[in-house]
Amino acid sequence: MAWYTNAVFYELYPRAFADGNGDGWGDFAGILERLDYLEWLGVDCIWITPIYPSPLKDDGYDISSYYGIHPNYGTIEEFRLVVDEVHRRGMRIIPDLVMNHTSDQHPWFRIARQSRQSRLRDYYVWSDTPSRYADARIIFLDTETSNWALDPVSQQYYWHRFYSSQPDLNYDSPAVQQAMLDVIKYWLDLGVDGFRVDAVPYLFEREGTNCENLPETHEYCKRIRRFMDDHYPGTILLAEANQWPRDTLPYFGNGDEFHMNFHFPLMPRLYMALARQDRTSIVDILAETPEIPPGCQWGTFLRNHDELTLEMVTPEEREFMWNTYAPEPRMRLNLGIRRRLAPLMNNDRRKILLMYSMLFTLPGTPVLYYGDQIGMGDNIHLPDRNGVRTPMQWDSGPNAGFSSAPSYQLYAPVIDDEVYGYRRVNVAAQKADPDSLLNRIRHMIHVRKQQPALAEGKLHWVEDAPLSTLVFWRTSPDQNLLILHNLADVTVRLSLPPTMPALAIDILTGEQITTSEPLTLPPYAFRWLASATGA
Ligand code: GLC
Repeated sequence: MAWYTNAVFYELYPRAFADGNGDGWGDFAGILERLDYLEWLGVDCIWITPIYPSPLKDDGYDISSYYGIHPNYGTIEEFRLVVDEVHRRGMRIIPDLVMNHTSDQHPWFRIARQSRQSRLRDYYVWSDTPSRYADARIIFLDTETSNWALDPVSQQYYWHRFYSSQPDLNYDSPAVQQAMLDVIKYWLDLGVDGFRVDAVPYLFEREGTNCENLPETHEYCKRIRRFMDDHYPGTILLAEANQWPRDTLPYFGNGDEFHMNFHFPLMPRLYMALARQDRTSIVDILAETPEIPPGCQWGTFLRNHDELTLEMVTPEEREFMWNTYAPEPRMRLNLGIRRRLAPLMNNDRRKILLMYSMLFTLPGTPVLYYGDQIGMGDNIHLPDRNGVRTPMQWDSGPNAGFSSAPSYQLYAPVIDDEVYGYRRVNVAAQKADPDSLLNRIRHMIHVRKQQPALAEGKLHWVEDAPLSTLVFWRTSPDQNLLILHNLADVTVRLSLPPTMPALAIDILTGEQITTSEPLTLPPYAFRWLASATGA
């Protein structure tokens, strides 16, 4: 089994994680001090969001040099040390690779825009009119009105799928294709274990299409994969392709493109099923999810550093999600919801754990978001997505143990309210409490990783269970697990399938269960059952 098939990933936001040098910003020195925490939690692979030099107009997703480190995070040598220390603990690390665009401060763009004859002009996509590629949607709907921006210097429009400060690279240029391969080589030589690849669907543009998922894009991604397989075996590519399952499938190729793809459409449906107390949305989207080639794996998640995206739902479902989970306009952004998991669950621990149980037992490799494992809150008064990127809450000391800087110097205020404030919600307190959210999640992680059926098992629904439950088998050649979730706020009694052996064991609690009797599941409860005789 490939290592990433039975792994737990952790998305680490370097600015927010830990400040080692006391300047109010997270940095590599801080990360080094906290790697033991990630190892203790059971993390196998860290996805670290952009660490490169950047004017930070999109929090580092606007890169001004692919070959350096943002000075606030440290130096290349320190990053190398992070990589070594991650490896020493048996973990892996994949940085973000932002291929689609650069910052407008990147020297390539500065040179390209100097004149229409610039030697790097074709590194970017130019046009005399803003009417080309009219079928491409706008992604940052709340801020951008067009995918074209006029460059005042050379009096042509340049193409950008995100902020206008992020011009798209032109992948029709062989030089750009080679330049990005050089970048990839540089970081792999430094020892990273692969990449989370940002904004993959948009690399190429073609008139008359929506400029997403084009064959040329797949061709180029396959080229990267070949290069990595040839020279860096064991490294992986994880795609951010926010698409419907049928459009995501081709990113796996025939097992020769991305190793992993995030399953974007599943994520909002976990929330939807819980709110409606009805599993249908989950069952339907997984029915629409095709088999993936051997050696490939989905990446699943509850939240990440962006808004909870509602791009992959119907307009009615989006309204439902907004009304349910983002009642205040301030909680919404673009086509999504800019809140963290715990507030979305009204801080109801039963629901938070239920969401994690679904994440850990449905197919896919779970990707956790920093802070959500202690139930951190958000700050909807901060702009853009910054409200879900506040300092990690390590302890109840000054600045939540995140930084020794004076509070006013922190890049963002720590969460300090009654419910989610760092005095109550922090790693130290939860580590000390065996029944804390953190310890419960850690336990689930450790149990999950010992079950081959959860890594690679097939999924079979138990269809005659009530709609307000989510009951399914995960079966691999040497293990059958029966997983039960109660999505409703009332107790349910479930008869277990006749194929269940007479005596079962709940692998989370160790409790023995006689399967001839109906099983009582309190509101929002879940069980992970194996045969007590080991079959
Ligand atoms: C991805 C990132 C997001 C960023 C965007 C543009 O969607 O997750 O944070 O703003 O790409 O790079």
